[in-house]
Amino acid sequence: MQRYDLLIRQGTLVTPAGVGQGDVGIRAGRIVAIGELDPAAAGETVEALGLHVLPGVIDTQVHFREPGAEHKEDLEHGLKGAALGGVTAVFEMPNTLPLTTDAERLADKIERAGANAACDFAFYVGATPDNVGDLAALERRPGCCGVKIFMGSSTGDLLIEDDETLRAVLENGSRRVAVHAEDENRLRERFAIAEESADVAAHAEWRDAETAIRATGRLLELVRQTGRRVHVLHITTGAEMELLAAAKDLASVEVTPQHLTLAAPECYERLGTRAQMNPPIRETAQQAALWRALAAGIVDIIGSDHAPHTLEEKAKPYPQSPSGMPGVQTLLPLLLDHVNGGRLSLQRLVDLVSAGPARLFGIIGRGRLAVGYEGSLTLVDMRAKRRIEESWIASRCGWTPFAGMTVLGWPHATVIRGQVVMRDDELVGAPIGQPLRFFEGDSA
Ligand code: DOR
Repeated sequence: MQRYDLLIRQGTLVTPAGVGQGDVGIRAGRIVAIGELDPAAAGETVEALGLHVLPGVIDTQVHFREPGAEHKEDLEHGLKGAALGGVTAVFEMPNTLPLTTDAERLADKIERAGANAACDFAFYVGATPDNVGDLAALERRPGCCGVKIFMGSSTGDLLIEDDETLRAVLENGSRRVAVHAEDENRLRERFAIAEESADVAAHAEWRDAETAIRATGRLLELVRQTGRRVHVLHITTGAEMELLAAAKDLASVEVTPQHLTLAAPECYERLGTRAQMNPPIRETAQQAALWRALAAGIVDIIGSDHAPHTLEEKAKPYPQSPSGMPGVQTLLPLLLDHVNGGRLSLQRLVDLVSAGPARLFGIIGRGRLAVGYEGSLTLVDMRAKRRIEESWIASRCGWTPFAGMTVLGWPHATVIRGQVVMRDDELVGAPIGQPLRFFEGDSA
């Protein structure tokens, strides 16, 4: 009798109970058994001896550019890159063209993605001064992971710059709001630094630590007053980490692999405008503060901020060159390398890229390798030594700032609801990605 559609055998399972060898049985998309299971009872079997089996990785910050800038990226390629990188689901950002700011545009994105999705997805709705009153209803629509605020301008036109409008956004709705915290006033005041220097190394000086600290400080003041929960994206300074450590009741914290891996000035000398992003990559002292915050438990999530631009666009003279770099496909390889380097444990990694996203955003059935949860899993080979090649990158932008880097640890397979969708760097079978489901408007 076939009890499992898919049986993953003899893997090293990273479960809430600890790390140990066992089998995982999946039926009708859900984990139905964990332990020593009968191989004869399975339809398909994946031999996982020597591999670690993690609950599916979720990347909570990607820009897939569709509609409007499909020459940089589109949903199909972005989702393929995700699956190739061991990612089982993404949260996609609203700074597309048109902006994702109403129900119709949200529905359009869901429909486009669903047509050819290598992995699961959800979309943010962007807050603007004009849609404040609609946000409470919009954030509850199916396929929506919440509201996104840009406090400082970046790629695209989304911006909530003053405290009054920011407060209005926070007062409209109840789900955790994702925030890009850079102070628009200070950015405007200091733009001459970027313009006059015409050197990308000035990026981190123009958008300096104070620009980020001020915005995060202002945000947390309003969070205290309104009681609204926020998720503060891509934190880059130790001072912000101190502010955020004192606000764990209301604010969760995200960092990116690139802020943990690259540092100024070396990255600007080596990569030029490819290293340009907002908020910027800063010096090693700030990077060390991010690692300390990660070790201290202040950081809740690591997201890639996959923000592709073409190399032609990146070749424009700074500061006309756009900010952002691709990352959804390299998120996990970089982090596995950091695990092997002793910077974090595999269990903490699972907390940051699977359990954390599920807990904070209220994703149904995700974030745990446990009976009853979805059979969406990421299998990794911690001993695989690989060079990151641009030929492996699925993104339409076709490049990665990590090209040529050798990492120890590599995604071996991506499984979504019991179906293997990636194995040995190849996508397998028909695309089955669906919108993620959320507990009704709620999360931790
Ligand atoms: O560097 C960035 N690029 N930061 C952002 O906030 C937006 C992103 C993009 O969409 O290009």
